[in-house]
Amino acid sequence: MPVVTRQIGPCFAAVVEGADLTRTLSADEVAAIHAGMARHAVLVFHDQPIDDEQQLAFTRSLGEIEHAIGTSLRAPDEYRLPTTFADVSNLDKNNRVFARDDRRRLFGLGNRLWHSDSSFKVIPAKYSLLHCRSVPSRGGNTEFADMRAAYDALDAETRAEVEDLVCEHSQIFSRQQLGFTDFTEEERARFAPVRQRLVRTHPVTGRKSLYLASHAGGIVGWPVPEARAFLRDLVEHATQRQFVYAHRWRVGDLVMWDNRQTMHRARPFPADEPRDMRRTTLVGDGPTVAQAT
Ligand SMILES: [Fe+2]
Repeated sequence: MPVVTRQIGPCFAAVVEGADLTRTLSADEVAAIHAGMARHAVLVFHDQPIDDEQQLAFTRSLGEIEHAIGTSLRAPDEYRLPTTFADVSNLDKNNRVFARDDRRRLFGLGNRLWHSDSSFKVIPAKYSLLHCRSVPSRGGNTEFADMRAAYDALDAETRAEVEDLVCEHSQIFSRQQLGFTDFTEEERARFAPVRQRLVRTHPVTGRKSLYLASHAGGIVGWPVPEARAFLRDLVEHATQRQFVYAHRWRVGDLVMWDNRQTMHRARPFPADEPRDMRRTTLVGDGPTVAQAT
């Protein structure tokens, strides 16, 4: 059965049929998945009962893995998963749900804000692959916004204004929005801002996207309040319902998205229920802009 993508209703995302992620994919299948990603930016694979090794093998068949080291408030001896995974669950290393006021959980709530994975890294992420191992009784959807459509819908004046802007991204900025500010000096140094272009061009399709995230806390050369008000308006524009696909998770779903062309956010769910989601990530091609020295 060949790998085919079927667009989900009128929205940009697509379901992939004919892919069995428990086995090694052929070169043609890998090419079909990359082509589907270039076109749809979000691909959904249902009923994939894969384990960690199979998820890693599938991810590696698409490119180089980005490691998750020092990007959360989990200390290295608190990791539940190897660094080839970003642990976006609400579970500690013994698979117990974090207490409601656990600092690691509160930091993780930043995922409820619209963002693009690893935009706070000099080389930001290409694709993210999120596999669902357990779901809460209600809530916990992930929503995706099409940043190409958002760019296309800008008026000409705004398009000209954003074209060459460079933003500063840090996890400190996204957590500030939630009132989470109690970082240690070591964490502040680790989460120092990096620069990203505000407009990115897809290397295959040539389409432009807004590259936004709640991690963006400033625009180079702009006063901070003006930059934040401007970025807030852009996020509001980019996340209008017509640009958004909401994914309701089933155990065994794997959803893959292109962080260069989309933003996403997690939706709330009961704090005392486990939600085991395991993310692997492909590293991007390079920085989007030269960094400040
Ligand atoms: Fe994310």
